[in-house]
Amino acid sequence: MSSKKKSLLRVLAGETLETPPVWVMRQAGRYLPEYRALRETAGGFLDLCYNPEFATEVTLQPIRRFGFDAAILFADILLIPQALGMKLWFETGEGPRLTPVTNSAEIGALKRPEDIHETLAPIYETVARLSEELPKETTLIGFAGAPWTVATYMVAGRGTPDQGPARKMMYEDPAAFSQLIDLITEATIEYLAKQVEAGAEVIKLFDSWAGALGGSSFEKYALKPAVRIATELKRRFPGLPIIGFPRGSGAGYIQFAETGCFDALAMDTSIPAEWARDELQPKIAVQGNLDPMHMITGGDMLVSETQRLLDILGNGPYIFNLGHGITPQGDPANMEKMLKVIRG
Ligand code: CP3
Repeated sequence: MSSKKKSLLRVLAGETLETPPVWVMRQAGRYLPEYRALRETAGGFLDLCYNPEFATEVTLQPIRRFGFDAAILFADILLIPQALGMKLWFETGEGPRLTPVTNSAEIGALKRPEDIHETLAPIYETVARLSEELPKETTLIGFAGAPWTVATYMVAGRGTPDQGPARKMMYEDPAAFSQLIDLITEATIEYLAKQVEAGAEVIKLFDSWAGALGGSSFEKYALKPAVRIATELKRRFPGLPIIGFPRGSGAGYIQFAETGCFDALAMDTSIPAEWARDELQPKIAVQGNLDPMHMITGGDMLVSETQRLLDILGNGPYIFNLGHGITPQGDPANMEKMLKVIRG
């Protein structure tokens, strides 16, 4: 079977399929008992990420269980800051912590983009193993965080409710902030290029906090770096499909669609399906955007909301997904139920 027959690649090339391909953000994760068991064996989340055998196994778990049309590399957007020399750890029950960078001198002391590969080599090996081991019909997605979202964690040293520290630095010290964005942008290009060389067939760029950028900052720090990354990757790998995820950016999705650099946009939960059908789908394939809460609550609402998305978006290029990652409380039985509605 030629790779062009893979359903996800067909939709990314603009086709409309009767049954849309489906995968789920965070499809490998704590809602799966087999994930929790292996994570315990490995020691912790980062130990999973940097062990190609474990990371491959964890990536394959949801493919075996649910037969998703795509597998997403098991890794994290914060591995780039770590590879640039920052300390990274995860506080149980709280989330990521990094030693923050707050000024030009600290940014200047980080490693150069071309020096990240030593740390990230195990990730490339995971990609290579996956491209060997995945079923022929399953598409392998590589990914990275978009520069703005990664910068919010690097500046604050942790997740923040309003990305305040990064927004403050952006206005108070625009030169240092641009220096940081440029460094992440260049490192991300090198990182993603290695993923593609190792066998990733599609790239997704996660800008989870794009919605925090207002005014001219959206174009400067969300749109421009994303275009630079996508353009450079497509120059090096002609035809490489790229999915954008400018989460929370509302009408900013139009600007992303109009760049022509992306093959699909992942919609967060707030994007109305009818608006996406009328404004985005004529220009670009769309992915999303069932509320992940349905994975916890299930029932008739899960069925009717899944059907509603299929009815509204199914007549154009469409990839079924949630609007954000499935949470640890999600019930695998509800995933089965959702898949039954999509696949009949
Ligand atoms: O989607 C997938 O299954 C692929 C793997 C993946 C992970 N993180 C694994 C993970 C991907 C694509 C990410 C992206 C990521 N990581 C984002 C952008 C996407 C989004 O969700 O908006 C962000 C902001 C991060 C940073 C991050 N990593 C946070 C804030 C946390 C802690 C919150 C949490 O859920 O515990 C993580 C940890 C993380 N990344 C886990 C997984 C499976 C949980 C680790 C564990 O405790 O086992």
